[in-house]
Amino acid sequence: MVSGGGTNLQALIDAEKSGIIKSGEIRLVVSSTPGAYALTRAENSGIRSVVMKDEDQLLEILKSEGIELIVLAGFLKILSPEFIGAYRDRIINIHPSLIPSFCGKGCYGLHVHEKALAYGVKVTGATVHFVNEITDGGRIIAQKAVEVCDGDTPEILQKRVMEQAEWILLPEATEKIAYEIMKGIR
Ligand code: GRF
Repeated sequence: MVSGGGTNLQALIDAEKSGIIKSGEIRLVVSSTPGAYALTRAENSGIRSVVMKDEDQLLEILKSEGIELIVLAGFLKILSPEFIGAYRDRIINIHPSLIPSFCGKGCYGLHVHEKALAYGVKVTGATVHFVNEITDGGRIIAQKAVEVCDGDTPEILQKRVMEQAEWILLPEATEKIAYEIMKGIR
């Protein structure tokens, strides 16, 4: 599920092509916004996509497509407890900081890196976690640290966290959970 540029989706698509993701396949891209470039990425890779209208319509589509794992890849809407309950421990999210730092309500996109720079941390990174009813509060699956460099702007730091952490961590974590589901150990 996406909302914007879809660089994390692209990492997932590339990881499926390269065999890093082999315990499942990307069946559907769901965007919260009609104009998201992530939809173009899906189209370029021949992956079916839909723009989300409401959660009931989405649940219908997910069930009819037999979706077993939902990956929030730069998805910026808050999902309802009912939706989360329908996919308990089957929704994972990538957050661009080392949770529990710089997460929770209002902490998304560039704001996360602005807060990290304002605090003066020397190390930040990305976290993949299960999604539950608490924003960025689900059990952590994987984390990857990234150095903060002198002179970093939020944009420079975001790019480094994406390149050195998000785009590596999300495919690896997705394969791990997909494998566990396929083997019936999740
Ligand atoms: C970025 O801020 C990224 O750090 C976070 O979601 C935002 C958009 O990512 N995970 P994407 O390019 O749409 O995947």
